[in-house]
Amino acid sequence: MPGTAVIGCQFGDEGKGKIVDVLAAESDLVVRFNGGANAGHTVQVGSDSFAFRLLPSGIIRPNVLNVIGNGVVVDPGQLLEEIDGLRQRGYAVENLRVSDRAHVVMPWHKALDTLEEGVKGGMAAETTKRGIGPAFEDKVGRWGIRVTDILDPIVLRKKLESYLPAKHRIILALGGTESFVLERIFNQYREFATRLQEFVADAGFVVHEALANGKSVLFEGAQGTHLDVDHGIYPYGTSSNCVAAAACVGSGVGPAAIGRVIGVVKAFTSRVGAGPFPTELDGKEAEYLRERGGGEYGTVTRRPRRVGWLDLVMVRLSARVNGLTDLAVTKLDVLGGLETVPVAFAYDHYDEELRAFPANMHVLAECNPVYEELTGWEDLPPEEWRRIAANGFGALPKEAQAYVRWIEKELGAKLAFVSVGRGREDTIDLRRTTVTPRPTARLTEGPTPAAPRSPRRSAKSHRAK
Ligand code: IMP
Repeated sequence: MPGTAVIGCQFGDEGKGKIVDVLAAESDLVVRFNGGANAGHTVQVGSDSFAFRLLPSGIIRPNVLNVIGNGVVVDPGQLLEEIDGLRQRGYAVENLRVSDRAHVVMPWHKALDTLEEGVKGGMAAETTKRGIGPAFEDKVGRWGIRVTDILDPIVLRKKLESYLPAKHRIILALGGTESFVLERIFNQYREFATRLQEFVADAGFVVHEALANGKSVLFEGAQGTHLDVDHGIYPYGTSSNCVAAAACVGSGVGPAAIGRVIGVVKAFTSRVGAGPFPTELDGKEAEYLRERGGGEYGTVTRRPRRVGWLDLVMVRLSARVNGLTDLAVTKLDVLGGLETVPVAFAYDHYDEELRAFPANMHVLAECNPVYEELTGWEDLPPEEWRRIAANGFGALPKEAQAYVRWIEKELGAKLAFVSVGRGREDTIDLRRTTVTPRPTARLTEGPTPAAPRSPRRSAKSHRAK
């Protein structure tokens, strides 16, 4: 039975952890396949909150096997910290497997992350400083150390002896002074290996067997499509592939392993880090979006997120490159209380209307969003949203329904979930409560023609930081 992938359609932080948590209840496996400890997936269970960086979001369900695939770069110290934290909270964490082929984040990766950012000037992405970029650079450059390597003292020592001198030269060339003692790293990583050994497996085989035996497999994407190293806002995104196709490469199964791709779209846009952001807001409007719904602050770095209106130009690209079949719209409650809700359906670039997301970041920085103003809905207290969620999609304010249906139609993917709060109970599951006709995409990405437009709302110009 093919699996399901849950993918972020914006800049990460769309609320994927919550959707994965809900779907994990009906899954046998949850597989992380990309990124690393730069991710921060929040799962709220009653008054308990979990923020996972490396652990898959199904880990708190003992009957679900959680797999960290080969596509993830594993920071062993961080992973052990998460495991220990969960054990202290009463979870056994026996339901974890870590790919023997996953690459390991080494101490020099973190040092280089900071140094590389420092010399990039205006091209810096404002990374999470978790060593993610340098770890993926080493993987592709064949300088990498994998989980299987730290389990073998001979291989680990040989790799450290070969790589460390070159890493020191690079650190020095970038203006760094840090020097790593081989023996200390060797001992530290051997200790990590001893503790992680019980979880290490040929993860590709585990996932393959599960699929072959008809088990339900959920592939949990980290970050979002517009941080993807190929399809995102390069060079301001992350260093791994975040799109649905990466679920196969990053977990060691073939393309037929995925039958369903659920795109998670936050009802507005947020971003931590640099790069052009056409619908970005500032001042009071930005504060309004940032401070509501629990606050828009980075889960990993606690940096305040840049916020803006929903941008359909970017999300349409996500629908295409991921082959979305289904849609989850999150944080709809946060937009409550606005008279109108602007949504960008195109960009204005020196009076030319662009519907396709530009590859050139300078062009993107020069784009002004062209908005359609949708009627807003009332601001409701959390308990009212929860009551609405319990009563299903039809209980949402009519304007909120129209907003979500509009997005659904634009993207041509079937609405599966609407989230109106942080908890599991704040989720409307349309797969069960209503019958939705399969929508057809109304807009194409190409430079298309005039449809009736509401007046243009020109935003200030934005530039790459
Ligand atoms: P890195 O992945 O730490 O190298 O950071 C590269 C860019 O991606 C930075 O702008 C980060 O803020 C952003 N980023 C990385 N991971 C996440 C995430 O999980 N959510 C949101 N932004 C992220």
